[in-house]
Amino acid sequence: MTTNDNYIELLLARMTLREKVGQMTQVSGATEDHLALVKKGLVGSLLNVVDPVLVNEYQRASVEETRLGIPLLVGRDVIHGFRTIFPIPLGLAASWNLPLVEKAARVAAREASAVGVRWTFSPMVDICRDPRWGRIAEGAGEDPVLSGAIGAAMVRGYQGKDLANPESIAACAKHFVAYGATEGGRDYNTSDMSERTLRDVYLPPFKACVDVGVSTLMCGFNDLAGVPASGNAFTLRQVLRSEWKFNGFVVSDWASIGEMVIHGFCADKREAAREAALAGVDMDMMSACYLEHMESLVASGEVPLALVDASVRAILGLKYRLGLFERAQVDLSRVSEELEWESLEAARHLARESCVLLKNEGNLLPLKEDVASVAVIGPLSDSPVDQMGCWTVDGRAADVCTPLAAIRQMVSPGTRVRYVRALPEACSGETDEFDAAVRAAEASDVAILFLGESEKLTGESHCRAFLDLSGAQQALLERICETGKPVVVVLMTGRPLTIPWAVAHVPALLLAWHPGTMGGPAIADLLFGKHSPSGKLPVSIPRSVGQIPLYYNHKNTGRPAIDSVRKMPLGTPADPVGFCSSYLDAEPTPEFPFGFGLSYTSFEYSLPKVVVQGSSIRISADITNTGNRTAGEVAQLYVRDVVASVTRPVKELKGFQRVDLAAGQTKTVAFTLCPDDLAFHGRDCRLRVEPGDFQVWIAGNSQAGEAAGFTLRESMI
Ligand code: BGC
Repeated sequence: MTTNDNYIELLLARMTLREKVGQMTQVSGATEDHLALVKKGLVGSLLNVVDPVLVNEYQRASVEETRLGIPLLVGRDVIHGFRTIFPIPLGLAASWNLPLVEKAARVAAREASAVGVRWTFSPMVDICRDPRWGRIAEGAGEDPVLSGAIGAAMVRGYQGKDLANPESIAACAKHFVAYGATEGGRDYNTSDMSERTLRDVYLPPFKACVDVGVSTLMCGFNDLAGVPASGNAFTLRQVLRSEWKFNGFVVSDWASIGEMVIHGFCADKREAAREAALAGVDMDMMSACYLEHMESLVASGEVPLALVDASVRAILGLKYRLGLFERAQVDLSRVSEELEWESLEAARHLARESCVLLKNEGNLLPLKEDVASVAVIGPLSDSPVDQMGCWTVDGRAADVCTPLAAIRQMVSPGTRVRYVRALPEACSGETDEFDAAVRAAEASDVAILFLGESEKLTGESHCRAFLDLSGAQQALLERICETGKPVVVVLMTGRPLTIPWAVAHVPALLLAWHPGTMGGPAIADLLFGKHSPSGKLPVSIPRSVGQIPLYYNHKNTGRPAIDSVRKMPLGTPADPVGFCSSYLDAEPTPEFPFGFGLSYTSFEYSLPKVVVQGSSIRISADITNTGNRTAGEVAQLYVRDVVASVTRPVKELKGFQRVDLAAGQTKTVAFTLCPDDLAFHGRDCRLRVEPGDFQVWIAGNSQAGEAAGFTLRESMI
C-alpha cells in the first residue's frame, strides 16, 4: 500500500455514509446554498467558480469547517485555453502537431490553476462524422488514431509529469461514449451502432487517453443502443474498468443522471441514482440524485456500500495526487491580469499550424507585404468574440488580436487597407454595406474576405441542418467576386461548411477555424508568406449536407462508386446504369478529403518501401520539397486490410509525422508497424489480428499516393 492508499483508507474508515455521498456530489457556482452544503461536508467538487478569492473561501470552509477537512476539487471547462485562447479543438487537431498541442494544454493548465481550478473537462475525444453537430468543434474530428493522439497530448499537457505540481490540473476525457454519433447531427440525440464499430472507431481515442493516465472520464448525455451513457454498465464497468483497468473516476455530464428519467430508462431520480451507481458513475454533476437518494439505496441494499467506497476512494485519491490535502489554498500571487508573451506565442504558432490551405489558384497567396492596397471585408475580420470560438468561458475579447488589426500591423507603411465589415455579423441578412464593400474591393489590388460562422452557431446544442454560408454572406461573396479583383476567402468556422460555389469561383481559400486570441497574427503570417500553411483536415469536407455522414475510412461495399458516375456534373440526373454506391444528383466524394491541406510549396512522395523483419513492418518513403520555399508537411501513413473475416475500411490512418523541408530537400519518413497495429474487432467483437495482404500508402492526404503492399504471415502474429 502506498502512503496515498493508506491515507485514503484511514480517511474512508472515518467517513459517514452521508459524507461519502457528499464526495460524490458536484455543484456549480458560488451560492449561499452551496456554501452551506460545503460546510456540512456534502460537496466533493465545485464547478464554475474561477474567482481565486472565492475559491479560497470555499476551500477554507471545506478544510476548516467540516468534520474531516477534505478539500474541494474545483472544476471548469478549460477546453481550448483558459485566458489565452487557442484554436478550437478541431483546429488544434488540424495542426497534427502533438508537442504544440501538449504545450497549449500546459499553458491552459498554468493559467487555470493560478485561479484555483485543478480539474478540466477536456479533452473531448468524441469521433464525429457529422458536421451538423455543433460539438464537432470541440473534438479532433473523424479519425480514431488522430483523435487519440490529440487527446493524449492534451492529457499530458494538462496533467504534466506530476499532478502535485500546483500548475498541473487533472484532465477528463469525454463524453464516454458515442456521443458524437448522435443521429441527424442533433445534440443529445440517440446513438446506435454495432459493438464492432463502437470498439474499432469510437472507443480507441478514450483508450489512448486512459493509456497516458487520464485522471477522469465524463459520460455522455446520449443513449447508446437503448442504454443511456450514465447508466451503461457495459461501457463503464466492462470496457473501462475491467478491460482497460481504468482506476480514476467517472463524472456524469450535467444533470445526465437525472435525465435518465426523461430518457424513459428510470422511473424516478432514486432509480436513476441506483442505475448510475451500479453502472459506475462515481460523481453526480448537478442532478443531486446521489445526494438525495444514495443513503436509502445503500440502506436497502440496492447499491452495495463497497461501490460507494470505491467511488469515494477514487475521488479522494485524485485530490491526494493533486496535493490538495497538503495545500488547498491557491497562491494569490500567481494570479495575473497580463497574458504571458510565451503563451501568446504558443497560441500564434498553433493557430498558424491549424490553418488549412484549401485552394490557391495561380499562387495568389502569399500576398506581398508592400501590396499597394488591400480590401479587408466581412463580418469576421474584426470580431474578437467569434474568433475565440465556442468554449471560451474565461477568454477576454480585449486580449484578442483580430485579422484586421494584424493585417494593418503587417503591411508596409505605404499599403492602404480599406476595411468594410459588410455584415454586422455572420448570420445577418442586412445588405446595406454591400455597396461600400464592393467599392473597397474595386479600389484595391486584392480583396480578403473573412467569412464563416459566428461562434454562436457552433458548440453544444448549436446544430445546423444547413452548412452553407449563413445570412447574406454568399451574396456578399458573389458581389465581391463580380468585381473581377483577386479574392482570398479566409473561413473562420467551428465546423466544415458546404461551400461549392466558393470552391469553384474563389482562387484562394484558407480555412482558419475559430483560431483564438492570436488568430489574427497567425492568419496574417500565412497571408503574407511569413510561413507556409501546413494544416491538414481532421475531417472530410462534404460537398452537400445530403452526403453526411461522410468519412474517409468507410467500407468499400460490394458496389463501390465508379469513376464514370463520379464525374457526372453536379445536378445531372445520372443514368443509374452503374448500379453502384453513389447518388444521382451529387458525387459521393468529399469536396476536400480527410488529411488534405496545401502548402505554398509542393511535395513529391516516392512509392512506399516496405521491409518486413521478424514481426515488424517498416514502411518508408522519400518526400521531396519540389517548390522554392521551406515548409512543413504532415506525412500520413494509411493501411488497407484487403481481405478479412469482417469487412474493413478502404483506408485507415496508422501514423503521421511532421517534416520540415527546405526547397529542393528530400527526407525519408519511416513508420514501424507491428501486427497489433493491424488488429480489429472480429465477428465475436474480440480484438484479433488476421494474416493476409495489406496495402499501404504514405501520402499528403487520405486520397493521394500510390499503394505498396505487404503480407502479414501467420508466423509474424
Ligand atoms: C457539457 C460538458 C461540460 C459540462 C460542464 C455539459 O453541458 O456537455 O461537456 O463539461 O456541461 O460544463
